[in-house]
Amino acid sequence: MNQPLLLAVDQGTSATKALLVRADGAVVASASAPLAIGHPRPGWAEQSPDDIWDSVLTAVAKCLAGHDPGLVVGVGLTNQRESCLLWERATGRPLGPVIGWQDRRTADRCATLLADGLGEHVRAVTGLPLDPMFSALKAQWLLDTHDPDRSRARRGELCLGTVDSWLLWRLGGGGDHLVEVGNAARTQLLDVRRRDWDERLLDVFDVPREALPRITASTGPFPAVRGLPPLTDGTPVLSVLGDSHAALFGHGVFLPGSVKVTYGTGSSVMGLISGPDRAEDSPLCLTIAWDDGIPAYALEGNIRSSGATLRWLAGLFGVGEAELAGLAAPDAAGVHLVPAFGGLAAPWWDNDATGLLSGLTFGTGLPQLARAALESVAYQIEDVVAGLDTANGRVTALLADGGATDNAALMQLQADVSGRIVRRPRDRDLSALGAARLAGCALGMFTRNGLAGLTRAEEVYRPRLPEQERERGLRSWHEAVARARGGGA
Ligand code: G3P
Repeated sequence: MNQPLLLAVDQGTSATKALLVRADGAVVASASAPLAIGHPRPGWAEQSPDDIWDSVLTAVAKCLAGHDPGLVVGVGLTNQRESCLLWERATGRPLGPVIGWQDRRTADRCATLLADGLGEHVRAVTGLPLDPMFSALKAQWLLDTHDPDRSRARRGELCLGTVDSWLLWRLGGGGDHLVEVGNAARTQLLDVRRRDWDERLLDVFDVPREALPRITASTGPFPAVRGLPPLTDGTPVLSVLGDSHAALFGHGVFLPGSVKVTYGTGSSVMGLISGPDRAEDSPLCLTIAWDDGIPAYALEGNIRSSGATLRWLAGLFGVGEAELAGLAAPDAAGVHLVPAFGGLAAPWWDNDATGLLSGLTFGTGLPQLARAALESVAYQIEDVVAGLDTANGRVTALLADGGATDNAALMQLQADVSGRIVRRPRDRDLSALGAARLAGCALGMFTRNGLAGLTRAEEVYRPRLPEQERERGLRSWHEAVARARGGGA
C-alpha cells in the first residue's frame, strides 16, 4: 500500500527510537539505537553530542529499511528535556558534552542562589523551582568552562541549546538555531507567560541572549531535513515536543482533567491546566505542554528515581530487573525505601533529603525490599498526583506509559496506592506516537477528534484496597519521607 507515512524520532536518555506511522495510525516499523551515558564524577551525567546525532541516524536508517522513504511526508521529533549543550556556530563543533538532565554538578551553585533568595523570582517567572535539573545552571557551567568572559557568546559565535535545538541544527544541515517552546519552558530561562527569555534570569545565570536559540511553536516553522539518509532532502519537520509533553499528546489529553504518568528512569506526572494562573500555590512545575497556535499549559511533577531504584536494587542483588519484580512479596512487611539518591524532586524539591530504608527486621529479605522498591515508585507518583487534585478537582484516572507499565503488578499497585483507576494503552512509545500525531495534525492528516479512534484498546486497573488501608499505607510512607528529609516521624 502506498499510503503516506510519518516518521517519528524519539531522542531519549538511554536510546533513540524511530517509528513509521501510517495515515490510519498504524505503526508499520520501529527501530531503536542505544545511547551511552557517562558519569565521570559522582553526580555528573554526560552524553556525547555526536553520539546522540549518530543514534538518530542509526535509528532512522534501521526504521526505514525496506520502506520507501519517498512515502514519508513529514517528521515529528520528540526529545529528552533540560539536557544542555554548547557548540560553535561556524563549524557546528560541540564544545564539551551534553550535560544531562540528571546531572547534579551545579548543586552547590544552586544552593548559593537559593540562599540569596532567588528561588521566588525563578518560580514566579519560569514556573519551576530553582534546581540543577533545569538547563540554566548547566548553560552557565558550559559557558564558564568554554567562554569564561562570554566574549565569543556575545559575538554570536556560540550556540547554547537543548537537545531539540541540537537535532534541528543537525537535521537541518546547520544554520537555524531554534528551540521548541515547550523545551524552552524547561530551561529555567524562559518567562513562561510571555514565552520569551527573561532578561533578569539571563543576567543571573550570565547567559548572553546572542547564544540562545530562537523560540518556535511546537509546529514550527522548522528547517526541512537535509542529510538524514535515507530520507529525501526537503522532507518537512512538522512537530517538535519534549518527550513528556509528547506522551501527554499521545494519550489524547487535550483538555484539563486527565493526567498521564510516564514510568521511566525517573517518572513524570503531567496534566493540562486551563491557564498559567491555575498553577499558583502548586508544588508542581508550571510548563508549556505545546503550542500549535494556542499555548497549552500544564502542571508537571518529576520524580528523580523510579525505574532507577529498581535497577539499583536488582544490581545490588545481582538479579535482572524483571526477576526482581517477580520476586516481590505481596506485602513489604513494614519496610519503606525512600529513593532520595540525589535528594527528592516533586513535590518536595529537597536536595538535602537522603536515601532511606526503614522498618527492617530479621525477617526482611529481598522479596520485601523488592516490594518496597515497587511501592516507592507508586507512592512517589501518588504524592505528585495529589498535587494535581487541587488544581483540577480530583483526578480519577491515570493514563500510564513507559517501560515499567509492562509490569501488571505495578499497575495494580498504583491503582491501589492511589485509589484511582489506571489505564494503560496497548500502544507503546507514546512520546513518539504523540510527535507523529501532532505532525499528522499539522498536515491535516489527523484531526484531534479523530485521534481517539487511532488508539488501540487499553487495559484498566481498578483500586481494590479498602480506603482505610490505603490511607494507613500513605501515612506510613509519609513518615518515612519525613525521616529521609531529616525530620522525625
Ligand atoms: O525531563 C527529562 C526527560 O525528558 C527525560 O526523559 O525518557 O529520556 O528519560 P527520558
